[in-house]
Amino acid sequence: MDVMDAIMARRNIKKFKTDPVAREQVLSWLEAASYAPNHRMTEPWEIVFIGPETRIKLNHKANFGDAPVLLALLSQPASSQLARDENVIAAASFAQNFQLAATAAGLGVTWSSLGAAAHNRELMEVPGDYDVIGILGIGYPAEIPPVKPRTPITEKMRELP
Ligand SMILES: Cc1cc2nc3c(=O)[nH]c(=O)nc-3n(C[C@H](O)[C@H](O)[C@H](O)COP(=O)(O)O)c2cc1C
Repeated sequence: MDVMDAIMARRNIKKFKTDPVAREQVLSWLEAASYAPNHRMTEPWEIVFIGPETRIKLNHKANFGDAPVLLALLSQPASSQLARDENVIAAASFAQNFQLAATAAGLGVTWSSLGAAAHNRELMEVPGDYDVIGILGIGYPAEIPPVKPRTPITEKMRELP
């Protein structure tokens, strides 16, 4: 699958098969994701693999679609608001790389913002000055949701003289 195909095939998956996903495979996508752009080579991402005990406590209403692998993606703090924003942007680029790598391999990812809530940060032992980019569930899709059409990009463009 080339990059254009992976971009267009990626969906936020809501329901996964029970088939296991090899940790090595996930690590290979995380490794690839770390080639995301990041200003001053801060490499601000950190990954927390979420085990069953923590997962239950997170109490997600759909159990992250029963995804067999669950991880939290964190972005490290910085000494200024600008640098912190840049870290978050870099970590979000990491997330996109990761999703595309998983999609190209025939798997899928669900992205949940549940981890940002104060009590869930505490459950995941996230230090106070870190940003939680998301909780990502990974697995083989049981259902692939239809594409959600996007606004033509020409409607979001302007030109300066
Ligand atoms: C920062 C961020 C947070 C998100 N949080 C959630 C979430 O909590 N629950 C959810 O169902 N989807 C979440 N999503 C996924 C979006 O809902 C999804 O990408 C969007 O509906 C478009 O669908 P698609 O990804 O299948 O194209 C999140 C996406 C981003 C970028």
